[in-house]
Amino acid sequence: MSHGPLPIARPIVQPKESPLTQFAAVTFAETDLDSIADATGRVAVVVSPDGKLGPSARRVNKLTRGALKRLVESEGFAKAEGSVITLNWPAGLVAEALEIIVLARRATAEDVRSAGAALGKSHDTRDLLLLGGNLVPLPELIEAAVLRAYDYTDHKTEETKPLGAITVQSNDAEATKAAAADLLAVAQGVFFTRDLVNAPANDLTTSSFADRLSEMSALGLKVEVLEEDELQRLGMGALLSVGQGSASPTKVVVMQWNGGGDEAPLALVGKGVVFDTGGISLKPAGGMEDMTMDMGGAGTVAGAMRAIALRKARANVVGLVGLVENMPDGLAMRPGDVVTSMKGDTIEVTNTDAEGRLVLCDVMWYAQDRFKPAGMIDLATLTGAIIIGLGHHNAGVFSTDDALCNALINAATDVGEGAWRMPLGKAYAKQLKSRVADVNNVGGRPAGSITAAEFLRRFVKDETPWCHIDIAGVASVKAETTFAPSGGTGWGVRALDRLVRERFEPKG
Ligand code: BES
Ligand code: MN
Ligand code: ZN
Repeated sequence: MSHGPLPIARPIVQPKESPLTQFAAVTFAETDLDSIADATGRVAVVVSPDGKLGPSARRVNKLTRGALKRLVESEGFAKAEGSVITLNWPAGLVAEALEIIVLARRATAEDVRSAGAALGKSHDTRDLLLLGGNLVPLPELIEAAVLRAYDYTDHKTEETKPLGAITVQSNDAEATKAAAADLLAVAQGVFFTRDLVNAPANDLTTSSFADRLSEMSALGLKVEVLEEDELQRLGMGALLSVGQGSASPTKVVVMQWNGGGDEAPLALVGKGVVFDTGGISLKPAGGMEDMTMDMGGAGTVAGAMRAIALRKARANVVGLVGLVENMPDGLAMRPGDVVTSMKGDTIEVTNTDAEGRLVLCDVMWYAQDRFKPAGMIDLATLTGAIIIGLGHHNAGVFSTDDALCNALINAATDVGEGAWRMPLGKAYAKQLKSRVADVNNVGGRPAGSITAAEFLRRFVKDETPWCHIDIAGVASVKAETTFAPSGGTGWGVRALDRLVRERFEPKG
């Protein structure tokens, strides 16, 4: 809520500008056996687990005086599918390292991902010549390598040298390039999300977040920023109550991509709590620094919109994010306060740390009110309980529409992002009864993720197919995943993009 001039000056530290983390330049060429001997940096060659060598591998074998043959004839080689074996300082090559990628011509998606990720993890400033030959899922191998070669350096003062260039040789360079183009566009969206999730809260304030989203208008997105006075006029009392204690103004950013006809859009709604102290229901000190990632839902929506715009999706998609900071303060909301949502429902705020649902309920209502979407998906780092339930390998999906939910889970599975459906139900909704208001913002400890979803369900109109994705366990992780180092993962950008392609774009 706007509280006029502040009684004391509270400066907001704004570190240097943070450009988007760039990934390695990728170029495509036809197979050229004579280029192998003199290639610098690293040379990677695909070898089938059955031990048969294609033309590039035969040339590498000849240059290295039989090293590849010895490898494929060694014990256990056939079991190495999906792995990458490194030969350092190989005789007969100028390159410093030879990477042997063990993959069948039609390798499974899982093996391709693990091989690509291994290649990406070791990618550094050295150039890489990737001899792809006739590998069918070569574009996906490149995608995985590029996604894994990510490093967040916005706040390192040591000069960061750009990643080495990747040259991909294959038997049909044009086809490989065309198939890789969309995947690389989406990867840019993933990097954007990771950068946002990794940014500390004094860098990514509500204002700098809105600025970074506004810059996406250069990609053909229509971006609007709604300020507090406008949000007040719209009646977003739940959202505004969360930001009352912060010196950073609450904002809603609307990003529209109109790549389709005049059909109703898909709406993506994201929780953008740039820092969650818990408010007056203060969180314990230990681990509180992790709450810089509490804008992960908004970050994912932003990355998905970037991906959709970059690959010029033939669909209408609108992304809406509620940007707010949850701080304890003399002006902050108190436990027990009753706030009024844009829908009109009154909410008793028993716990100011259950703030994400207060953000989402107003932005979701606004999204439906204004855009009458054909479907609505909200994403939020909503509950610690979903981490207890599903750990860090699956996001929790809640839905009132089987068709949309199945399509979403299939899309996530296809791209290797874990998603698992959770139940909803009236009995859970009962836990949210309030003595003084229409609904309570918390429902006690049992089934904490489900009662959170049931709270959101109140703000979904009957005619809106809806999914809620609780990404608290997957948005940022302490241990590296297949595709990402520790920190922000960008989970969901690729799944949402795939869903748009499969369900909201014309085929062919
Ligand atoms: N942002 C947190 C949820 C969270 C926890 C995200 C851990 C990522 C990692 C959310 O706002 C929150 O505090 N939820 C409370 C809800 C409770 C008060 C009903 C929680 O999960 O404890
Ligand atoms: Mn909270
Ligand atoms: Zn939160």
